[in-house]
Amino acid sequence: MRSKIVAGNWKMNKNVTESKALAEELVSELSGVSLENTRVIVSPTFVNLTTVLAASEGSAVEVAAQNMHQEAKGAYTGEISASMLKSIGIKTVILGHSERREYFGEDEALLAKKVNAAMQTELEVIYCFGEVLEERKNNTHFDVVKAQISGALFHLNTAAWSNIILAYEPVWAIGTGETASADQAQEMHAFIRGLVADQYGAEVADNVSILYGGSCKPSNAEEIFSKPDVDGGLIGGASLVAADFAAVIKAI
Ligand code: 13P
Repeated sequence: MRSKIVAGNWKMNKNVTESKALAEELVSELSGVSLENTRVIVSPTFVNLTTVLAASEGSAVEVAAQNMHQEAKGAYTGEISASMLKSIGIKTVILGHSERREYFGEDEALLAKKVNAAMQTELEVIYCFGEVLEERKNNTHFDVVKAQISGALFHLNTAAWSNIILAYEPVWAIGTGETASADQAQEMHAFIRGLVADQYGAEVADNVSILYGGSCKPSNAEEIFSKPDVDGGLIGGASLVAADFAAVIKAI
């Protein structure tokens, strides 16, 4: 059975003191909450990973990185490798976020390399993708999403899929306050699961968790999460306030 997952992407927010406090508040908000088949992940910036790992130790809160470099090591000033993340206790990495695609020129060819590096290091990947507004208006959003998924992931073997989480984040809904409707999310998630089923079969498709991201918050999470192909969320703004993030988690 696939997991439900609520992941908070803190992006470039919170210094070390604030990150520690936010992690501690979240742990406290979740104490006594029955999470059953639900995973909770937070993703602070690189420099705060160790602090947040320590602050969440012994709790249900897992910690993921927001990015990594595709090479194992070498002369890549300013970059961080999969094995470096692994060596500090990180098990999961977010790849392909729309902000990485938009501001740092990441495309499927590069992301396929990053995914490979993560798989070789046995890091789990939360792979993000989603169309921009114009693509939705032009009705090309299904083609765009298909290309983003197939271009970076469909070279993988079946076994690798146990380490892949998909995150559909329509760019027009990120940080805008505008969410996809629950029906729009369900329609896209069902399409995505169908793509995976066509490529890898029903079992892989049934087992992959597909998260929704884009202005997901306490007031809309329950409706979005109620849809059968929505297995949780990747939360930006609302994950920066422990009570709000806990409310989103409880919505699942
Ligand atoms: P918001 O929840 O702030 O729209 O951000 C979503 C996101 O980009 C998560 O990765």
